[in-house]
Amino acid sequence: MPSNTEIHLNILVLHGPNLNLLGRREPGIYGAVTLAEINSRLEQEGEQLSCKIFALQSNHEGILVDAIHDALEKYQGILINAGAYTHTSIAIRDALAGVAIPTVEVHLSNIYQREAFRHHSFIAPIAVGQISGFGADSYYLGLQALAHHLRKAEKN
Ligand code: DQA
Repeated sequence: MPSNTEIHLNILVLHGPNLNLLGRREPGIYGAVTLAEINSRLEQEGEQLSCKIFALQSNHEGILVDAIHDALEKYQGILINAGAYTHTSIAIRDALAGVAIPTVEVHLSNIYQREAFRHHSFIAPIAVGQISGFGADSYYLGLQALAHHLRKAEKN
């Protein structure tokens, strides 16, 4: 149960391109869990951590950039799986750096065990940290890590 003294945190969860296909997309790599299931478990986990979750999926880079800008003054943290934009999007990286909202990057697959073009992340250098390779659990571990980081920052 969340402690009564904990301040409520608003967390923006961003899912990038093709993650709407989770459950049917390359299940050998990404597993059988759907995006709706991931979001609903994140909401449940969030309650335990006194975090309110708002989740958005988009296949469009600009929509993700806009969502990051709109997060200012509304969200204390961002959890992001930018999908393929991880490896290509300077715009998403610059948006995250621009708003300077603490961000944790997650991936279902271990991107370092896969093709070389997935080994580089534009987001990792400006993120608090990255969790990669635990399937859907990467999201829940990422949320815990983000909440822990924000709580620690609150105390300082
Ligand atoms: C992914 C890894 C990316 O390389 C890929 O383009 C995705 C999903 C993951 O969660 O493992 O779309 O971010």
